[in-house]
Amino acid sequence: MPYTYVWDLFVRVFHWSLVVLFAANALVIDEDSKLHHWVGYAVVVLVGARLIWGFVGTRYARFASFPPSISGATEQLTEIATGRAHKHVGHTPLGALMIYNLLATLLLIGLSGYLMTTTMFWGADWLEGLHKLAVSWAEIAVALHIAAVVYESRRLKINLPRAMVTGYKDMGPE
Ligand code: HEM
Ligand code: HEM
Repeated sequence: MPYTYVWDLFVRVFHWSLVVLFAANALVIDEDSKLHHWVGYAVVVLVGARLIWGFVGTRYARFASFPPSISGATEQLTEIATGRAHKHVGHTPLGALMIYNLLATLLLIGLSGYLMTTTMFWGADWLEGLHKLAVSWAEIAVALHIAAVVYESRRLKINLPRAMVTGYKDMGPE
């Protein structure tokens, strides 16, 4: 099975839209602007849609195909340490943990951002602090995510970013 269709159109459009919108809000758009709020809400809508897709989407998009698993993650770390390569068709266990972390952090950013705009929490410094902290955490996570994607692409000899563009993973000759 050299080429396997893993990421459906929804997952791919979701992923690259998320990249553009998150980067725009974290790095470019003025945080005092209305646009910042709308782009932030668009991220929340994307994540919300992804959560639904995690239950009704195609095989590898479903959460059931990449449950959070500490034992799986430990196994993957052992593989990395001992130089064994086990190719995964869908998300790897470490990748899965990162995905849940990113989705949850993005929702926390959206919620804290929204609450700052309400009369009840208007001017609450702790909320602004939480918003900033969650954004910093997401930025660190994204840097790790990108580093891991590059590292795993080399280790497993699969071009993972290309799979997120075309939908197909080249699983090699095995
Ligand atoms: C240029 C930057 C990026 C590249 C090259 C990249 C690449 C990838 C790849 C290859 C995967 C699939 C991993 C696998 O094979 O299991 C993935 C998944 C994912 N990435 Fe990224 N990523 C980037 C930036 C981001 C950013 C900025 C975010 C969020 C703010 C993000 C969030 C996610 C999520 C949530 C998934 C899971 C996709 C799903 O199943 O719906 N990525 N990314
Ligand atoms: C992906 C989503 C988002 C990202 C990456 C993001 C990022 C940021 C960043 C980097 C700041 C500046 C923090 C600082 O002062 O250092 C900020 C501030 C802020 N954000 Fe967001 N944000 C997002 C979503 C939202 C949403 C959904 C809302 C509300 C609707 C929101 C409302 C605010 C407010 C009110 C501030 C404080 C602005 C001020 O200093 O007056 N954000 N955000």
